[in-house]
Amino acid sequence: MKAVVIREFGSPDGMEVVDLPVPVPARGQVRIATEAIGVGGVDAVIRRGTLAAQGFRAGHLLGSEVAGRVASVGEGVDPSWTGQRVWAFTGLSGGYAEQAVAAIEDILPLPGGLTGAAAVTLGGSGVVAHYGLDRARFAPGETVLVRGAAGSIGVTAVQLAAGGGAGAVAVTTSSAERGARLRELGASHVLGRSGQGGPDAPAGFDVVLDVVGGPRLPLFLDMLNPNGRYVAVGVVGGPPPADFGMRLIEAFRRSVSFTTFSSDTVPGPERQAVRMSQFAAAAQGRLRTVVHEVRPLHQAAQAHHDMDAGTVFGRVVLVP
Ligand SMILES: NC(=O)c1ccc[n+]([C@@H]2O[C@H](COP(=O)([O-])OP(=O)(O)OC[C@H]3O[C@@H](n4cnc5c(N)ncnc54)[C@H](OP(=O)(O)O)[C@@H]3O)[C@@H](O)[C@H]2O)c1
Repeated sequence: MKAVVIREFGSPDGMEVVDLPVPVPARGQVRIATEAIGVGGVDAVIRRGTLAAQGFRAGHLLGSEVAGRVASVGEGVDPSWTGQRVWAFTGLSGGYAEQAVAAIEDILPLPGGLTGAAAVTLGGSGVVAHYGLDRARFAPGETVLVRGAAGSIGVTAVQLAAGGGAGAVAVTTSSAERGARLRELGASHVLGRSGQGGPDAPAGFDVVLDVVGGPRLPLFLDMLNPNGRYVAVGVVGGPPPADFGMRLIEAFRRSVSFTTFSSDTVPGPERQAVRMSQFAAAAQGRLRTVVHEVRPLHQAAQAHHDMDAGTVFGRVVLVP
């Protein structure tokens, strides 16, 4: 089967299309003939080498979520799964391929009316948006800032915050055109990447949901209202400055709090329940998924170049 691996970390030019043996599902796993493959921000983070310390090696097969039809099942899995269309989380590896394996706990049947492309745009990121707001104890009427809102976590977070009755939903983004698209999804105020602009924007925020991290993170900590909550869910802008914690300590009179969140810490069945309800909402048109572009699998490196160039809005989807 065709698959895309990392020959060399760094530039997308270090990605390579290779022939690999079709994977065999182990006990408790299924094999899926992929029809749509999500290109996530986490793939770019791994490919750039930002997560190199976590032990990724040359030859790493990228990709963490796919949709497709179950082609075979491993020992202990009900054979009636065979032939069903599913969404699947493959872990931090294995998705950029014509065939992928996933644990039975990490697959969900696709509801009628939901395309594979929509499913891989929402499946992994939607739960991060949901729990990010949940962990921030977001309540109706509060002001929310989504930092890095133009990615698939952000576009869902903006909709959930607006739909949840936020007093204001501000976003950071890199252009007025992207800001206009975010307004269509529910954003009320558009700020630049440094938080500038938006003269009528709230002076402070009760909740900041941050996909970006990076050197500017402390600027956004300073935008929290008293008792404000900051939830860091991503690092697409790289790691924050090592001493950013001092900013928190210095702000102690405002009782602000900072937390990280990873969906890995949510029990699987809870995560799947949220995902299932989001899939149903998307199938019924109550939640919008944003597919930036659909490309053939062998153009995965080009998709990563587009992500690095900052031209992607929502998510790129690969098809085998
Ligand atoms: N917490 C979890 O459980 C979890 C799960 C999955 C993934 N993740 C993490 O979430 C991140 C990916 O999320 P995603 O796919 O939604 O993001 P994404 O699409 O890669 O990026 C979101 C937006 O951030 C902005 N951005 C990119 N680089 C930036 C920079 N250097 N400075 C400021 N803004 C920048 C861009 O928008 P503009 O150009 O409009 O500014 C971009 O569209 C990764 O860090 C991944 O590890 C976390």
